Amino acid sequence: MTAQFGDYQNEIYAGGLQGVMPPYPLTFDGLAAGAEAALPPSVWSYVAGGAGDEHTQRANVRAFERWGLVPRMMVGATRRDLTVDLFGLRLPSPLFMAPVGVIGLCAQDGHGDLATARAAARTGVPMIASTLTVDPMEDVAAQLGDTPGFFQLYTPNDRALAESLVHRAEAAGFKAIVVTLDTWTTGWRPRDLSSANFPQLRGNCLANYTSDPVFRARLGKPPEEDPQGVVLQFMTVFGNPLRWEDLPWLRSLTRLPILLKGICHPEDVRRAKDAGIDGVYCSNHGGRQANGGLAALDALPEVVEAANGLPVLFDSGVRTGTDVVKALALGATAVGVGRPYAYGLALGGTDGVVHVLRSLLAEADLLMAVNGYPTLADLPAALRRVPNGG
Ligand SMILES: Cc1cc2nc3c(=O)[nH]c(=O)nc-3n(C[C@H](O)[C@H](O)[C@H](O)COP(=O)(O)O)c2cc1C
Repeated sequence: MTAQFGDYQNEIYAGGLQGVMPPYPLTFDGLAAGAEAALPPSVWSYVAGGAGDEHTQRANVRAFERWGLVPRMMVGATRRDLTVDLFGLRLPSPLFMAPVGVIGLCAQDGHGDLATARAAARTGVPMIASTLTVDPMEDVAAQLGDTPGFFQLYTPNDRALAESLVHRAEAAGFKAIVVTLDTWTTGWRPRDLSSANFPQLRGNCLANYTSDPVFRARLGKPPEEDPQGVVLQFMTVFGNPLRWEDLPWLRSLTRLPILLKGICHPEDVRRAKDAGIDGVYCSNHGGRQANGGLAALDALPEVVEAANGLPVLFDSGVRTGTDVVKALALGATAVGVGRPYAYGLALGGTDGVVHVLRSLLAEADLLMAVNGYPTLADLPAALRRVPNGG
């Protein structure tokens, strides 16, 4: 019998019979507490924090409680099929790792992008590599093994640099470009402001810039000799407030599928479709950018409806395998996690990320087993609004 994601629980219980306890926490709160203890305070607050009073960040998580799944009995869901097709890629599950810019700093050895890519290779869970990495994208891609990776673009306002980044991503073997739209400027983040800490402005996670020929050509001196000049040049080029008129240019840069991240309004979905975009990514950046109150999950049904068959990726507030199943039931094609795997990385490097991903997948798989949903297609019909708002 081939392995199923739920088998992870058998491994854990079997370990217990040998006196081996699971090395990492099994709950999000446990992971967060461990990561807080393991990370330098400035990195912890940057990762854990969000915009404003963090209402949206909390709303993202709470929104999942307003949905419930109705179990079906005597289905005999002894095998569950979680595979999905995305841009011609056959993925073992709908789970992916959302781009996390400072993931490089979350590993104890300071090379968290590489460790995350290795976790992708071990689990088959795709990684979306951020523009903001400690190691250049080519080195990250080299660790992905057979698992597809996507490159997340913070579009610079220097078009030649944008083109260079996209072409490098293509050459490195990334399978899609994810253009993040909601971060052309940084949202108001009191936790980071309180410690006057913004990692990139301290020269962190800029390897894709310092390794780029176009970026280097803009500097007066080699980046190694002028770290301050690097940061100044980064500040000059970061943050292109893209408009719909810019999409044909972006589209012309690559034959790879392009996704737009940060889409929450159905009209924006329709405009993206009209422009020949290959997929939309419904997300509010985990509540880190705008503190408006609406949970990303609440935007998902309208986005899915407007997408009308176009792939819809989703993230923001996913903390458990049950959350993954609910987002799929609401129509997401694939579901991303952010902070949970960052915390796993802080605790155990690649092994910690693998543990978090396997736990999410095991919970999702076992929920589908217990509730009688052998396939992802069974999920929408099982979903109900919780009476009285949850
Ligand atoms: C510390 C941190 C850094 C992030 N950096 C990026 C980034 O570089 N690019 C991007 O598109 N999204 C970035 N995000 C947003 C994530 O891709 C994702 O939307 C968010 O983490 C999902 O919410 P969750 O953390 O509640 O799962 C970042 C999130 C965190 C927590």
